[in-house]
Amino acid sequence: MTPRSPLTQRAPRRWTRIVILVALVSAAGSIAISRRSSAAEPRGHERRFSNSTGVSRTVSTAGAIDRRNPFFEKLGSNGRTCFTCHRPAQGWTITPPELQDRFDATNGLDPVFRANDGSNCEAADLSTIASRREAFALLLSRGVIRISMDVPANAEFDVVDVDDPYDCQASLASVSVYRRPLPTTNLAFLSAVMWDGRETVPGQAIRDDLITQTRNAVTTHAQGTAPPLPTLRAIVDFELGLFTAQEMDHVGGLLSIAGARGGAETLPKQPFCIGINDPLNMLPSVAGACLKSSGGLDPKAFTLFGAWTNAPSPERQAIARGEAIFNTRQFAITSVPGLNGGAGDPVAGPLSTGTCTLCHDTPNAGNHSVAMALNIGIADASRRAPEMPLYTLRNKATGELLLTTDPGRAMVTGKWRDIGKFKGPVLRALASRAPYFHDGSAATLAAVIEFYDTRFGIKFTEQEKADLLAFLRAL
Ligand code: HEC
Ligand code: HEC
Repeated sequence: MTPRSPLTQRAPRRWTRIVILVALVSAAGSIAISRRSSAAEPRGHERRFSNSTGVSRTVSTAGAIDRRNPFFEKLGSNGRTCFTCHRPAQGWTITPPELQDRFDATNGLDPVFRANDGSNCEAADLSTIASRREAFALLLSRGVIRISMDVPANAEFDVVDVDDPYDCQASLASVSVYRRPLPTTNLAFLSAVMWDGRETVPGQAIRDDLITQTRNAVTTHAQGTAPPLPTLRAIVDFELGLFTAQEMDHVGGLLSIAGARGGAETLPKQPFCIGINDPLNMLPSVAGACLKSSGGLDPKAFTLFGAWTNAPSPERQAIARGEAIFNTRQFAITSVPGLNGGAGDPVAGPLSTGTCTLCHDTPNAGNHSVAMALNIGIADASRRAPEMPLYTLRNKATGELLLTTDPGRAMVTGKWRDIGKFKGPVLRALASRAPYFHDGSAATLAAVIEFYDTRFGIKFTEQEKADLLAFLRAL
């Protein structure tokens, strides 16, 4: 019998050694990158990055990750590039530890630290290192960027008050909210662009939404003039070719062997069209949606780790159980505006048989396959942390008051019923990019699980929580 290759070894102990070795090698790569990161761009072969639970990898359908792409160029006036806030080692977003490193390396002068939207407040004092540390406190602690939006002219509500720890709001005609940069990878699976879907025009191709998005990113974040269309197209094509996932887990080992299909390699081949696998069957009402025949309906949105159900390694079994929990563990889904929160929502009343995949339905990507902003309660006043502003909105017709840290989709549509609604994001490469949710309010994946357990009264057992965590880390 020929000896097993190291990659098919079963024993967890061996795994640990191999994994540590690979992690060390790739950690060396990412250290090299983070040392150079403020000045330079990643080189083509630097696509593997270690994170706290393993190693992530990005593949590009264009072959190498082309560092000459305008994504890495200064397109505006403040020294920023797209790479300033969308970094391969952090799952193509930014994270507090890396931002703190950048702050220390540059005394808080790296282009990410700009007052136009990086600081808690635009009028921040940036004169000393200490004042800059204070000015960028939210960016450094949560990895969030300030987004200022005018209340839409036709809005069904007024903003009547703000409890603002930074005294930042000059007028109640606009609001400043703080949001995590969404990853610029796995975009081929999107059904809506931005947390509130504001760059998504119904019926328009996502690629065209992304071109508008890129233009706006240059004029706002980078404070530049709109680049010519070929530049915008080059950036969007670059982004659309990127796919990122966890490739190796410190305890589960390589995620694409022994029958498992984790890792980024298979992602470009994963079939997708808007509306695929939508359990609510909203297809007819979704413009540009794929036909039912393209996917069919399967609550098992994730089919990566089934082969590990009876794996010899207990760690791999846990990942497989976690996937099964995500796909099939039922719990009651009550009062989610946009889903079953009242008049106008597609579902009337509570759903007793919901699963995680009711909303995270895109096969093996995990975002919502239809543009359907939902309010699961992240921006609720009850969850407000003292460092976040709290807005009071008043319904112009009824006088009703509502308190929120982020009005979400309502700032796009002006609709009262859209307050606090956000899209269900892609769930790959999660381990690279804590914290989670639009406001970075969940510091860890365990905190995400706790949120759901409380919000929906799921009563996960400790074992179920651990399994679900093992699965989310392996994505
Ligand atoms: C200062 C930081 C910053 C810079 C610079 C930046 N972005 Fe972003 N990006 C963000 C934030 C924050 C969001 C999420 C905002 C929201 O949803 O309200 C975002 C969202 C996105 C999204 C949406 C992804 C999705 O899932 O909907 C894309 C695409 C994107 N950015 C591309 C770019 C491109 C291209 C550039 C360069 C032209 C760029 N960004 C520059 C912070 C930044
Ligand atoms: C009712 C719809 C719904 C259900 C059910 C649901 N989610 Fe979500 N999920 C969302 C939405 C919407 C967001 C974005 C919320 C926000 O940031 O405001 C989200 C965000 C997340 C995130 C954060 C991703 C990121 O990039 O920050 C994770 C992780 C997640 N969900 C996991 C789960 C798990 C695990 C379950 C099952 C226990 C689950 N979700 C059930 C709608 C849902």
